[in-house]
Amino acid sequence: MAKGSILVTGGAGYIGAQMALTLAEAGYEPVILDDLLTGHRAAVDALPFVEGDVGDVRLVTDLLARYQPVGVLHFAGVSQAGQSVEQPALYYDRNLVRSLALLDALRTLPTLPAFVFSSSAAVYGEPAALPIREDHPCAPVNPYGATKLAVEGALEAYGTAYGLRWAALRYFNAAGADPQGRSGECHEPETHLIPLALQAAAGLRPPLNIHGRDYDTPDGTCIRDYVHVADLCRAHLLALENLIQGSPVGCVNLGGGTGRSVLEVIAVVGRVTGQTVPVADAPRRAGDPARLVADITRAKQILGWEPAMSDLDTIIGHAWTWEKQKHGTA
Ligand SMILES: NC(=O)c1ccc[n+]([C@@H]2O[C@H](COP(=O)([O-])OP(=O)(O)OC[C@H]3O[C@@H](n4cnc5c(N)ncnc54)[C@H](O)[C@@H]3O)[C@@H](O)[C@H]2O)c1
Repeated sequence: MAKGSILVTGGAGYIGAQMALTLAEAGYEPVILDDLLTGHRAAVDALPFVEGDVGDVRLVTDLLARYQPVGVLHFAGVSQAGQSVEQPALYYDRNLVRSLALLDALRTLPTLPAFVFSSSAAVYGEPAALPIREDHPCAPVNPYGATKLAVEGALEAYGTAYGLRWAALRYFNAAGADPQGRSGECHEPETHLIPLALQAAAGLRPPLNIHGRDYDTPDGTCIRDYVHVADLCRAHLLALENLIQGSPVGCVNLGGGTGRSVLEVIAVVGRVTGQTVPVADAPRRAGDPARLVADITRAKQILGWEPAMSDLDTIIGHAWTWEKQKHGTA
C-alpha cells in the first residue's frame, strides 16, 4: 500500500525525474506536474503525469483536491544563471511568481503538505569563507539566485504564519545519472560541465571551452562541488520524511563536500571514456567565483545524510553510460 501521494513539480526534468523514480521505489505515489518547458515526458513515462503549469492555480487546486498529497517537492523552474541576467522577467515569473501561486494553492487543503524546495548555492553569491555554511551571508549575484532566495523567504514566512513545514535544499552542482540508467541529464542547451565534456569527448560537439585558467586555484581553473543526483534524491526523501514526522528542516546545503577543478573533471572524463577531451581556452565568465564548496555538516546532522556516490569517478561513470544510451551508442 502506497505511503501517500507526493506532488513532484518539474518531475519531467533532470533531478525531478530521478526523484519521482526514487519516491516510487520508496513506496510513495509520485504525481508529476510539468509543463515540459525543459523537461521530457519520456523521462517518466511509467508514472502519473499531468502536463501543466505550477502557476495555474485552478489546475493545481484541482490536482491537490484529487490526490491530497502528503508532500510537495518543488523542482519546477528555470535555472541558467547567465540567462537570468539577460531575461530577469522570465526568472522572476517562473521561479518566484509561480512558486507563490503554488504555495497559495496549497493553502486550499485542510492540512498543508510538507514542502521541499529546490534552492541553490546561487543564493550565496561570491563566497566570503569556504567551505560555505548555511549561515554564510546570502548576496546573490544574479536574478536566478535572487529568485531562489526570495522563495526561501516566503517559505520561512509561510512557516511562521500558516504552519508550513518546509525545507529549502541548496544544491551545489547536481551531476551524474540514474545508477540503473533510467534517467539523466538532457538540458537544451546544455550548460553543465560534465555532459559538455562527455559530449566533446564523444565528438558530438566542438571543443570544450575552459572559461579562465588564471583563477587563484592550484591549476588555475574554477573549483566546484559536484553531488550525484541519486545522493540528492536520497536527501530529498530524508527531508520529506523528517517534515512529515514533524521535525523542522529549513535551509540545508547539498554538495559532495569536496571541490574539484575543471581540469580534474576533464581528466576523469578522459579516463572514463578512454578519449581525450578536446578543449579551447575562453575568457572568464562574469560572476563565476573561483571556488564554490559546500559545508555539508548540517545535512549530516539534520537529515543523517552523507553523499555515497558523489566521487567524480562514479558521477562521470554513470553520466557516461547515460550519454551513450541517449545518443544510441551504448
Ligand atoms: N541542476 C543543478 O545543478 C541545480 C543546482 C541547483 C538548483 N537546481 C534547481 O533544481 C531544480 C531542477 O533542476 P534541473 O536541473 O532538474 O532542471 P530541469 O530544467 O531539467 O527541470 C526543471 C523542470 O521544471 C519544468 N518547469 C519549469 N517551469 C515550470 C512551470 N511553471 N510549471 C511546470 N513545470 C515547469 C521544466 O519543464 C522541467 O521539466 C530547478 O529548480 C533548479 O533551479 C538545479
